[in-house]
Amino acid sequence: MGTSGRRVSVKEGRSKLVKWDDLRMEIIFNPRQNEIKMAAKALKDGHLVAFPTETVYGLGADATNIKAVSRVYSVKDRPTDHPLIVHISSINLLQKWALDIPEYAIKLAKVFWPGPMTLILKRNQSVQNFITGGQDNVGVRVPAHPIALGLLSEFENMGGEGIAAPSANRFRAISPTTAKAVDIEIGAFLKSEDFILDGGQSSVGVESTIIDCTESVPVILRPGAVTSEMIENLVGKFLVLNINKIKASGLLESHYSPKAKVEIGRLANPGEGFLALAEIPTPKGAIRLAAPVNIEKYAKDLYIALRFGDQQGLDTIVAIPPEGFGLAEAIRDRLTKASAG
Ligand code: TXA
Ligand code: MG
Repeated sequence: MGTSGRRVSVKEGRSKLVKWDDLRMEIIFNPRQNEIKMAAKALKDGHLVAFPTETVYGLGADATNIKAVSRVYSVKDRPTDHPLIVHISSINLLQKWALDIPEYAIKLAKVFWPGPMTLILKRNQSVQNFITGGQDNVGVRVPAHPIALGLLSEFENMGGEGIAAPSANRFRAISPTTAKAVDIEIGAFLKSEDFILDGGQSSVGVESTIIDCTESVPVILRPGAVTSEMIENLVGKFLVLNINKIKASGLLESHYSPKAKVEIGRLANPGEGFLALAEIPTPKGAIRLAAPVNIEKYAKDLYIALRFGDQQGLDTIVAIPPEGFGLAEAIRDRLTKASAG
């Protein structure tokens, strides 16, 4: 608009629209239906929309548009052979993406979708290599977040078939669980036609459980809020983890890393960041980054706590991983990978 610097306009009501300058994307706080529709239209036109899900924020693109999807890779600086998860609004659209879906996968989908679970299935012939990284399978998820589901429905109403969305962070960094964290991660790489939809803090806080459904039994590739116990109760036997079989960047040994060095399983020294359940007191002189009262809260605040450590410029963050099964396994998985970084 000819003026330099930052331009901020606030719309009426609960909806706030912030525009930094003409080159930057808009962040829409608590988007209304018409704003979600506008974002869906942007996707349809080949632009990118970062949106909230119950796990973490995703960076969305039309999963059938090669140009849009290649921008996702460049914004994230992610290697192009790492496949993307396709998000759809309902199990009814699964056939567009997958073939030969095993009985147990349908069971899982019926019970846990919408929800924090991604199924790896044999891909339909129409699914492009730029989604699957050239593999003959595809990851699909129905997220459980009203804004994500609203965006998917509007997009599908416009003829869209699915939204490809990795976590909205730079490659190997921590997934964002707030719109602000998305902006810090990738805002500088988005354009004025793109959007960030702000739906508050993600309720789960760690990425979806990934289950490989291309064999006779399900195989958990990444632990998450749909736990091994929940899967076992529903479909019986499963193998826990087989990381050699499939290329998945979240399965790299070092991943989910803040800038600070993460160390686990010892007490923090003075000046170091400290993350542990509330029942574990803060060592003298350490900087408490979070004191979650239970495992759910630990997962929800995990990435916020690690980011908080980075904001304070800490060199080292010490974390005491939670014990036990279920969601605690997912937290331990992420902390172990962060500490390998
Ligand atoms: O909770 C989530 O899953 C979030 C939200 C936005 O839905 N998404 C997410 O996507 O975590 P991403 O790309 O950051 O992590 C997905 C992981 C990656 O490691 C990817 O390589 C793997 O899943 N993946 C995706 N499709 C796959 C496939 N067909 N086979 C094997 N791994 C796959
Ligand atoms: Mg990711």
